[in-house]
Amino acid sequence: MKDMIRAFVEEFGVAGHEGRVRTIIADQIREHVDDMHTDALGNLIATRGPEDADATLMFSAHMDEIGLIVTHIDDNGFLRFSNIGGIQPHRLLDERVVFANGQVGTVGVERVEKLKDLKMEKMFIDIGCASKKEAAEYVEVGDAASFHRPLVDMGDRLLSKAMDDRIGCAVLAQVLKELDSPKNRIVGVFSVQEEVGLRGARTAAYQVAPDLGIALDVTGTGDTPKARRLDVSLGDGAAIKIMDMSLITHPGVKRLLLELAEEHGISYQREVLEFGGTDAGAIHLSRSGVPSGCISIPTRYLHRPSEMVDCSDVRACVDLAVALCGADLSRIDR
Ligand code: CO
Ligand code: ZN
Repeated sequence: MKDMIRAFVEEFGVAGHEGRVRTIIADQIREHVDDMHTDALGNLIATRGPEDADATLMFSAHMDEIGLIVTHIDDNGFLRFSNIGGIQPHRLLDERVVFANGQVGTVGVERVEKLKDLKMEKMFIDIGCASKKEAAEYVEVGDAASFHRPLVDMGDRLLSKAMDDRIGCAVLAQVLKELDSPKNRIVGVFSVQEEVGLRGARTAAYQVAPDLGIALDVTGTGDTPKARRLDVSLGDGAAIKIMDMSLITHPGVKRLLLELAEEHGISYQREVLEFGGTDAGAIHLSRSGVPSGCISIPTRYLHRPSEMVDCSDVRACVDLAVALCGADLSRIDR
């Protein structure tokens, strides 16, 4: 699975620019699904299992990553930028970023007295050009850039940009590969534009009209020195979301996930996240409402250039999702 994860995270795919990620995911899953198509917004929607199944289970993992967008090129060739998705300015200091065409730049900053004065409008990207004219040969206003960090294989743990949420995409692709003959109709959605407001999942959920919606996304951890309190640790298993800012997990879905983890001996932890949201936030509000939940991959240093996951957690998330595909979904109603 590591090769697939590396290919997914290293690909360029800032929100609104998911095409290349979609292509490599489609190549990975093509042989393992019954049907696959791309919708109007760019979501990749893949289906497995019987058409006449009792229930449709929709998974969603978002293909997009956070990034920057060029707003202005000055006379000396420096690029001013804004953010796409949640990025705090100080995370960008001295970072390298890369554009879709492979152009690399480093982020510089004007002289500031205090760290709190460090605003994005005082920062710029230097792509090594001496003039506006020269810079314009490589980059235009409106071009997006992502962090420029390759995956580092640390053995049990992996470090890379864009674990949020390519690791969820890898979990979903792996689930589609491992499914034998699922009891339910499984729809795997690789969604667009989650980082700017759960946009792709909203239209995908309308089209799929699932009986159960599950986001596969990252969550933070509270296991680093003096971390903000969060009862999730790297290596302690799949995180079953209880609540975040976008969703209060449906009680039946929560109970089913907890029971399945117990029944299948899958290590898990309960997640209450006091910030952020996932595609499940959009899915559960689609049509007349969809019971929804989220299986989260614990991840350190979220929305930073180097996000860390543990392979045993990734495995636990795959196992729990596969177990769900085979479960009797009428158990949600109890
Ligand atoms: Co995110
Ligand atoms: Zn995410």
